Amino acid sequence: MRRKKNKNKSHAVLTQKNSILILDFGSQYTQLIARRVREAKVYSLIVGHDIDLDKIKKIAPKGLILSGGPSSVYGDKSPKCEKGIFKLGIPILGICYGHQLAAQFFGGVVKKSKEREYGRQELFVDDHSDLLNGLPGNITCWMSHGDCVSRLPKGFVALAHTLNTPNAAFANKERTVFGVQFHPEVAHTSHGSQILSNFIYRICRCRPSWEMGSFIKDTVAQIRETVGKDNVVCGLSGGVDSAVVAVMIHKAIGRQLRCIFVDNGLVRNREPEEIKAIFRANLHMNLGFVNGQKRFLKRLKGITDPEQKRKIIGDEFVKVFEEEAKKIRRVKWLAQGTLYPDVIESVSVTGAPSAKIKTHHNVGGLPERMNLKLIEPLRELFKDEVRLLAKQLGLPPEIITRQPFPGPGLAIRIVGDVTPERLQILREADDVFVAEIRKAGLYAEVWQSFAVLLCIKSVGVMGDERTYEHVIALRCVSSSDGMTADWVKLTPEFLGKVSNRIINEVKGVNRVVYDISSKPPSTIEWE
Ligand code: XMP
Repeated sequence: MRRKKNKNKSHAVLTQKNSILILDFGSQYTQLIARRVREAKVYSLIVGHDIDLDKIKKIAPKGLILSGGPSSVYGDKSPKCEKGIFKLGIPILGICYGHQLAAQFFGGVVKKSKEREYGRQELFVDDHSDLLNGLPGNITCWMSHGDCVSRLPKGFVALAHTLNTPNAAFANKERTVFGVQFHPEVAHTSHGSQILSNFIYRICRCRPSWEMGSFIKDTVAQIRETVGKDNVVCGLSGGVDSAVVAVMIHKAIGRQLRCIFVDNGLVRNREPEEIKAIFRANLHMNLGFVNGQKRFLKRLKGITDPEQKRKIIGDEFVKVFEEEAKKIRRVKWLAQGTLYPDVIESVSVTGAPSAKIKTHHNVGGLPERMNLKLIEPLRELFKDEVRLLAKQLGLPPEIITRQPFPGPGLAIRIVGDVTPERLQILREADDVFVAEIRKAGLYAEVWQSFAVLLCIKSVGVMGDERTYEHVIALRCVSSSDGMTADWVKLTPEFLGKVSNRIINEVKGVNRVVYDISSKPPSTIEWE
């Protein structure tokens, strides 16, 4: 996951009073809770479990959700929140670990369950009055726990049970503290969204205010006010994130926004022309177009190490961008398409630093070098929310549905040396594959589909001649966020057709293979 380094720079940040704050105790589902709350039209924010009370008071949320987590509340290093949180008078919903933590705080007993519950369980509703209002007598819920609340604290009542867990949901109605042992945020819990809506609306008294239309209006107004008469520079990549950022800023300040597209020679067929057409002709934007093909390829000559490729491309990009941005007068701001998952700082509850797998390339480094302040209007959004925004902003479908494309481009899809000839082979093969994926109606359905050029040659026979030519690997994965992925089970007929077309149409290729690895243990890109 990309992590932005410029945490201390100024941002055009939105404030949302009518919000739900989610304290993250390390659950794999924390982001899902945030999504569900937003789907219910209330803004949600994920923060670390150890957030201090003053910060919470400043945000003034209407409710707090304590997420699940992998620890036991009795563990030595189990994550805790500030105790004062339970006395703020803000309604609380604890989920799984959060449910046990709330029970423990108020004097209840949490014990190892006699039988651990994982997966689907039947939940019997005993009290329909608030949190579980409108639910049938029993529902299917998703459990994942080894501990349970064996005795409720004084003043608490059980709202639901399963056959193994007597206090599967509880409440202290006076204090508006609620807990559920199961996960209402996952799709396997039937009526899970209803439970969260009950918390948000019946208990926290939120207003439905989070919607894309008002987000655009508020953000545009804020950008206009923040930027004033200064100029803003924005790097366009052709992807949906930077496109949405550019369109919103353009709405706010028009010609004060200067977009720059750097053609590093590592993009796909027709990409530069498409971007020019969309942004200059259709959207009437001030677009600087830099042809950097030669300088990138020169620096990549002879480089085969993936990390070195990534570093060189990132470094060269910053240089080109800096040169271009310096030509613009009074530029004080850099706009970036940073998304919410990139900025959540609370994920690592264990404190274990995650290993660096790949150096991801973005415009990091520029703000410091050029003394620019950052505008990141999408810092609060998830990818699918950005796609919704793109639709509302009237962006063309080819941008809205565009699959993610890495900053270092085709260089990391060519295993080994990056040369103009090898780039050409890859572009042509990729074109065929993606065209077939589109024809089959799969383009918007899968996360990514692309070709990779391998660093080996293999023997073949064409006509009566022996050939010794390149191998193309096809990669097609499904994913919801790029963090994990599975290979798509394309049919043998489809794969056969693509293989035939590539071998027949792309000069220099005599073999096509299909990549059937998931992430983990593989990654999506090959380098
Ligand atoms: P991996 O290969 O790490 O990729 O499984 C996960 C997702 O990230 C994309 N990716 C990048 N995106 N800059 C980006 O903006 C990069 O340097 C970069 N490297 C990988 C990749 O395409 C996949 O969607």
